[in-house]
Amino acid sequence: MIPQKTSAAKTGNKFNFNFSLGNTQKKQMSEKAFNEWRKYIYDVSGIYFQNNKKYLLESRLQKRMNYLGLDSFEKYLEYVKFNPQKEVEKKQLFEAITINETYFFRNQPQFDALVQHIVPELLSSGKKLNKKRLRIWSAASSSGEEAYTIAMVLTELILPKYPGLQVEIIGTDINYAVVENAKRGIYKEYSIRNTPPLYLKKYFIKHENNTLEVVPEIKRMVKFKLLNLYDDAGMRMMNNFDVIFCANVLIYFNLESKKKVVEHLYNALNPVGYLFIGYSESLHGISKAFRLVSFPKTIGYKKE
Ligand SMILES: C[S@@+](CC[C@H](N)C(=O)[O-])C[C@H]1O[C@@H](n2cnc3c(N)ncnc32)[C@H](O)[C@@H]1O
Repeated sequence: MIPQKTSAAKTGNKFNFNFSLGNTQKKQMSEKAFNEWRKYIYDVSGIYFQNNKKYLLESRLQKRMNYLGLDSFEKYLEYVKFNPQKEVEKKQLFEAITINETYFFRNQPQFDALVQHIVPELLSSGKKLNKKRLRIWSAASSSGEEAYTIAMVLTELILPKYPGLQVEIIGTDINYAVVENAKRGIYKEYSIRNTPPLYLKKYFIKHENNTLEVVPEIKRMVKFKLLNLYDDAGMRMMNNFDVIFCANVLIYFNLESKKKVVEHLYNALNPVGYLFIGYSESLHGISKAFRLVSFPKTIGYKKE
């Protein structure tokens, strides 16, 4: 349970919350606390805070500590590890520490490669078993812009050529709030800054408050769920994908957690399936299992 600012201080409970502070003063984290927090976050999510990101962790945690009325990083760590509702607090922690920047058509060359090369290749390949179904995963989908972009480009450029093709798109993220936003499918103008006019016109409904909602036809093609890429059990449930987009998330991991996540992604792909990662990311030193394939202005990783 989230501590109540008025009562818990009086109870002198074992977390010893200091509610008198209601404190918005900036606190500095000791090296020891930083190392303990870093280890904890790494163990539960694979996210690794480099030394130069200590300030970021401090400010992200502090917001949550202020809300809870906790006056030290040590007490918050104890709270997130041991309070009876620790799973609830872990969810809040993931919301506090993740960076969810994303937008529609973020990496256009990848979507071009998908519709111009990969899908036609997959649907004609002797190695793809089910030619009637295409399964695509947007792993670390944040608020859903990438997953919906995939649905839009397939609707516009693939479905007319392959009538009867079933498309399943799944978006997953560790951050509950962004997953819920993705399900709603309502965006501010900032999210559509890179969206071609044709797509804006056909696939969004503009509301009076200047928000834009993805049309039902596109929403129906995409399912969103909460998933931690560092959770072995959850990852083993993800199977039979033809293409996986896992962009701009490996940068938050260290070598060991990158390797583990990429191995799961490899296992989740069908034979001859493709993995896309972020524009500035590479699998160099992380996995040798894929074949690197060049497309105009981008590269993909193929499972062979
Ligand atoms: C910068 S966003 C990238 C969004 C999108 N893939 C893109 O490229 O635009 C990174 C996302 O990774 C998610 N993330 C971080 N660690 C994760 C983990 N262990 N499991 C699942 N998602 C994670 C964050 O919550 C965040 O939404």
